[in-house]
Amino acid sequence: MDPAPASSVEPQAADAAVPHAFAEAVPGLAPGVLLHRSRHADTVRGTWGGRAVVAKRIREDIVDPDERQRAARGILREGLLLRRVSHPSIVRVARLVEHPATLVLELVPGRSMREELRLRRRLPAREAASVGWQLAEALEHLHRRWILHRDVKPANIVYDGHRAVLIDFHLAKEPGPMRGGAGTRLFTAPEQVRGGHVTAAADVWGLGTVLYRAVSGRLPFHATEGHPQLTERPVPVLQRLADSRFGGDLRRAEVDLPRELASLVDRMLSTHPDARPSAAEVAATLRLIAGSDAAA
Ligand SMILES: Nc1ncnc2c1ncn2[C@@H]1O[C@H](COP(=O)(O)OP(=O)(O)O)[C@@H](O)[C@H]1O
Ligand SMILES: [Mg+2]
Repeated sequence: MDPAPASSVEPQAADAAVPHAFAEAVPGLAPGVLLHRSRHADTVRGTWGGRAVVAKRIREDIVDPDERQRAARGILREGLLLRRVSHPSIVRVARLVEHPATLVLELVPGRSMREELRLRRRLPAREAASVGWQLAEALEHLHRRWILHRDVKPANIVYDGHRAVLIDFHLAKEPGPMRGGAGTRLFTAPEQVRGGHVTAAADVWGLGTVLYRAVSGRLPFHATEGHPQLTERPVPVLQRLADSRFGGDLRRAEVDLPRELASLVDRMLSTHPDARPSAAEVAATLRLIAGSDAAA
């Protein structure tokens, strides 16, 4: 595989070599470098009883008590929900600590798919199918338990060149009526952006955007603001690949991207949720493509 898979997550903070200092210790946790800071949590590498882990902790600089409570509740909810599931492509909980709210997770080897795609630009069709198959099985596992992830995107996937693992369940919840707006702008299904009844099909859309990006090197939509998925249909992925790499020549693009994979990705990005395949169907189709000799 090209380039060699990373053996650990990529540091994302400027001062990544310096262990992140917390005023309040979590007993048993030796924190290492900061990987990521979001609105509610700091994600650090660390060790727990000698085991390499990643800890997602409430940010210490949140002072407003209501906001602290919301952030803590979010982290604990994420941990409790993750404890209900068990799948090789879903991150595992090592420990959940209430004060200060901390979710200790297994360290998944590899780098985020966002970083992987930034470095490699695209994945060969068969490798993309293998990644998609693993993640579709993870989604099938969640959907059978009445859980939606709601934020499937490259930054929430860790990949080591073989195993792809879904992380970051902070938006996960049961299907049903919900307010619009939650999710990541260009990766969120139209019905989730709008709000209303949201089902498992929204996660299939998210995985569709990941696969579209992985096989074509481009996102299905590019607008720098707003939600183009509410008004536009993506260019079919084979056409997008032909345009970006082969001067519009579809036949040359087809050598790189088998039609059955392209049409599956296009169906995953259907505007209407009922027109999208289920995660189970996606997994079964991708499994065949990943295992066949037809895909280059
Ligand atoms: N268990 C893990 N193993 C390896 N890397 C992880 C793990 N959890 C998180 N990361 C890294 O930290 C980043 C942020 O974690 P994430 O759970 O997505 O937090 P946030 O809710 O702040 O987005 C991820 O993009 C990934 O690079
Ligand atoms: Mg995330």
